[in-house]
Amino acid sequence: MAARPKILVTQKVPDPAYPLLEAVGDVEMNAVEGAIWSREELLRRGPGHDYIYCLLTDTLDERFLTACAAVQPRLRMLANMAVGFNNIDLAAATRLGIAVSNTPGVLTDTTADLAFGLLMAVARRIPEAERFLRAGKYTGWGPLLFCGAEVHHATLGLIGMGRIGKVMARRAHGFEMPILYHNRQRLSLAEEAEYHATYLPLDELLQQADFVSLHTPYAQETHHLIGERELSLMKPSAMLINTARGPIVDEQALVRALQSKAIAGAGLDVFEHEPAVEPELLTMENVVLLPHIASASLQTRTLMATMASRNIVAHTRGERPPNILNPEVLN
Ligand code: DGY
Repeated sequence: MAARPKILVTQKVPDPAYPLLEAVGDVEMNAVEGAIWSREELLRRGPGHDYIYCLLTDTLDERFLTACAAVQPRLRMLANMAVGFNNIDLAAATRLGIAVSNTPGVLTDTTADLAFGLLMAVARRIPEAERFLRAGKYTGWGPLLFCGAEVHHATLGLIGMGRIGKVMARRAHGFEMPILYHNRQRLSLAEEAEYHATYLPLDELLQQADFVSLHTPYAQETHHLIGERELSLMKPSAMLINTARGPIVDEQALVRALQSKAIAGAGLDVFEHEPAVEPELLTMENVVLLPHIASASLQTRTLMATMASRNIVAHTRGERPPNILNPEVLN
């Protein structure tokens, strides 16, 4: 009888993910909620598993993948519980014949909800006002108390018009915001009409938008897509929202732009050197900072968790994993 596949789960994930895995293999898991294994720990524990169920906090680089491919059982698949997969060296995985999957679609609405919430929070100074009240400083309504920026009718610039960018456009349309977008590939005219979105080259979008929201994947081409030059093109009243990936923004340039009032504020759910945050950002009242929670509703995280499991289950059965990123390895 063939040995049951060995499956490693690198962080504690929502419970419904486990029975699906246990039905097809022997599961070893990191059972401590919130504990993230270091690179060394991963390198110590990873090799010798057929499947690794991983998270965006795990760096699965060529060195790790090569180690996992060099022992028996050889790693067959990585199932990332995230839509973004910049934590995995996909090219190396493909070279080594290791399948990789992600969790697209199920987190689209939840992520756009948070992006819009972050936009509202920065524009209307919600966390700052709440800190003020909790500190016992509220002594009465004031005509100038916490006057923020208008959201309705303000122009939204979306950088990245994939699934999440499009849903963000829907949210913004409800607030009667003119919508500009920049994307590697321009949408069809029918889609532009559907999302009420006007295509602009990046620089023009940056010059015209009141809010710039990032929804592009992180890759070499999008590293520091928003740097000193781009920030200097934005209006001094404009605000930057990032729920995509931290390194898309040059965080030190952002600090300088906020300090010099080149832009008016920022809402950040992700950071260049996550979980570290540029210390200056922590002191700024016009910046809202969140710990990478854009997809964090229990329903969505459960859907992501079971989706990652289902990709592994399909592979163990010799079926095509529904969300495979490198199908060429299946041949
Ligand atoms: C992802 O899935 O890539 C998000 O950043 C976490 O939900």
